[in-house]
Amino acid sequence: MKVKGNHFETIWIHPHNQAVVQIIDQRYLPFEFRIEDLNTLEDMYTAIRDMHLRGAPLIGAAGALGMYLAVVNANGERIEERQITDAAAYLKSSRPTAVNLAWAVDRQVNALQGLTTKEEMMETALSTAIAVIDEERMNCLKIGQHGVKLIEQLSRAKNGATVNILTHCNAGWLACIDYGTATAPIYLAHDQGLKIHVWVDETRPRNQGARLTAWELQQHGVPCTVIADNTGGHLMQQGMVDMVIVGSDRASAYGDVVNKIGTYLKALAAHDNQVPFYAALPSSTIDWSLGQGARETPIEERDGNEVRFMEGLANGRICEVDILAPGTRAVNFGFDITPARLVTGIITERGISNANKKSIFTLFPEKNLNPEY
Ligand code: MRU
Repeated sequence: MKVKGNHFETIWIHPHNQAVVQIIDQRYLPFEFRIEDLNTLEDMYTAIRDMHLRGAPLIGAAGALGMYLAVVNANGERIEERQITDAAAYLKSSRPTAVNLAWAVDRQVNALQGLTTKEEMMETALSTAIAVIDEERMNCLKIGQHGVKLIEQLSRAKNGATVNILTHCNAGWLACIDYGTATAPIYLAHDQGLKIHVWVDETRPRNQGARLTAWELQQHGVPCTVIADNTGGHLMQQGMVDMVIVGSDRASAYGDVVNKIGTYLKALAAHDNQVPFYAALPSSTIDWSLGQGARETPIEERDGNEVRFMEGLANGRICEVDILAPGTRAVNFGFDITPARLVTGIITERGISNANKKSIFTLFPEKNLNPEY
């Protein structure tokens, strides 16, 4: 997507040094646009854990490139299997909820299996990481092509009047390689000339909606308005939201959707007001091992200081302010689970399914190991 008119993706190999990965360092957006060089496995681990980059598909790509960096920096001409499995376990421990990370890291482990020389491992790790990036870019584009049909329908039903879409957190191109998941249909609708407007949940505590989604939508010229997280229910009651589209960090084959904390409340409000609620996600986000309800999902708990301190711009400088009285406790769960019964549909790279096993397995029959469905 575009940043000040120039095309950018979120992660790439340094154009002049194949041993370096470059990322947009999202910690500084929307105030500063900074690119960070990542040289080692440890650099990648820190970038994921401390959210220099974030968003499920992007964390997956970062995991794949983190494995590549582990190989690039390994000593000697031969690499033991143990070094690969240790690097994989280390990367996977950086953030627990987005299943894309384990999916991409395990794909690297499988690709590297049986290889021993550093040279052949570097070649394989690089091509595997590039394949993950290429596939995820394409998956997001396809999610957009399927999802835009929903916006077209709403636009027709409204005789071309503005379609108002609410989204939570950042499931935009910054969370992926390009296009985004929830935003892909939005960008396509805008590019087709449909009248749309996006309500952007600020998404406390880290404000990914306010800081990232609003910024990237504006870079692309999509009309949007930031709202405090608690506003969505009111807007839905007033008929000011035509649909909700969110992303996901892990989904079950039953149609349960794990996403940024607060998503569940939006789904409840949408259900109560008959507003369609869609999750847009590539199949790398589906954890096929999850049971109904997705209760086994490891929900990330981050530092309470992310709730305690607010970051913003003052006198041209990024700074933090403490918003709690001394000694106040703060707790910070990163994600919640929206049960399938509240999800109208799931927009994937293969099409739109209902939030149930039968419909999801119709799109992904190769994942159905149980003839009962
Ligand atoms: O904690 P984050 O910023 O990594 O959480 C991101 C989200 O919850 C996104 O909605 C999700 O990863 C979907 S990504 C297209």
